[in-house]
Amino acid sequence: MTPAPQPLAPGATIGILGGGQLGRMLALAAVPLGFHIHIYAPEAESPAGEVAARITRGAYDDAAALTAFAAEVDAVTYEFENVPAACAALLAGLRQVRPGVKALDVAQDRVTEKSAMRAMGLGTAPFAKADDAGEARAAFESLGGGAAIVKTRRMGYDGKGQARVASADDAAAAVARFAAPCILEGLVSFEREISVVAARGIDGRIEAFEPAENTHKDGILHRSVVPAQLKPQVAAEAWRIAGTILEALDYVGVMGVELFLDRDGALLVNEIAPRVHNSGHWTMDACAVSQFEQHIRAVAGWPLKPAVRFADCEMENLIGDDVLRWAGIAAEPNACLHLYGKAEARPGRKMGHVNRLFPPSGRR
Ligand SMILES: Nc1ncnc2c1ncn2[C@@H]1O[C@H](COP(=O)(O)OP(=O)(O)O)[C@@H](O)[C@H]1O
Ligand SMILES: [Mg+2]
Repeated sequence: MTPAPQPLAPGATIGILGGGQLGRMLALAAVPLGFHIHIYAPEAESPAGEVAARITRGAYDDAAALTAFAAEVDAVTYEFENVPAACAALLAGLRQVRPGVKALDVAQDRVTEKSAMRAMGLGTAPFAKADDAGEARAAFESLGGGAAIVKTRRMGYDGKGQARVASADDAAAAVARFAAPCILEGLVSFEREISVVAARGIDGRIEAFEPAENTHKDGILHRSVVPAQLKPQVAAEAWRIAGTILEALDYVGVMGVELFLDRDGALLVNEIAPRVHNSGHWTMDACAVSQFEQHIRAVAGWPLKPAVRFADCEMENLIGDDVLRWAGIAAEPNACLHLYGKAEARPGRKMGHVNRLFPPSGRR
């Protein structure tokens, strides 16, 4: 019999690939549990590096630097999903990497991702692969010729690498402009967008936070609100979908599952993020465990905590110049401000977020 994997003891070092705000908040959650954080990122200065015990500055294809990093850590996780496959494979040969190579593989390519969701019996927007202009035309016709979205298959985020199209010519032109393999998706006329942030532990136990209701501005998440205004059976279905995905991928860690609630009341999976997720930031102040601590617990092989919510919450992202409102927000009695330590407030850049808490009655 193989012995059960031992949990990481306090004093161990967790390595994180990526130096952004998600890495920063993971590090800030790991320290109270007694872990040391070692950030691996290409940048000299980063939001995560600022709060980590150790930093390795290296490229994600630098095998020597990755090998040296692995030697200095007890486990590895990541804060972004575009970790190159070769990097993940190299590290996985040396250390435990959670959530792992399989989840990265599925989440990195929108065609693979949507096909995997369908294979799990889950609904998605209608889609077809559009790797070149010719395929884009055929894809547009195959979806019935209605409004659609072209997205690059890989590397898109915050609405980047996306174009709405209304004709086969538009679709072909968009794919030509992106000059990259694309997916064409039918435009879902959704009633609302929700997400479930859920964790699975090494024992297979799943703890899902309540669904949040999300609104976007200029392709970037603007607000996440809990509780979402959902019928109980829709919330239960959202949890069931998240659980199905976590189990199918034999996943360990936190995942974000973005969903559309369509006008018939059905939930469609938009995309998954094999990491902590912006729409789960509300858990930092409204729950007994944040998504960040929950992820560290899973990575370390610790038991998960119940994902119980104690307050209603509205999370607002502070994008670009929004952060200039910091002084007013700091003076709001029910606002919890989280800033990422980025020097320059460029347009579209995530500078921080604020969680506004309300009594759990739902009354404002
Ligand atoms: N098929 C679709 N139908 C309707 N809206 C969509 C569709 N795909 C994306 N969107 C809108 O664009 C946003 C960003 O798209 P998404 O696929 O989540 O990419 P990103 O990786 O940039 O978050 C979604 O949250 C949603 O508001
Ligand atoms: Mg998205």
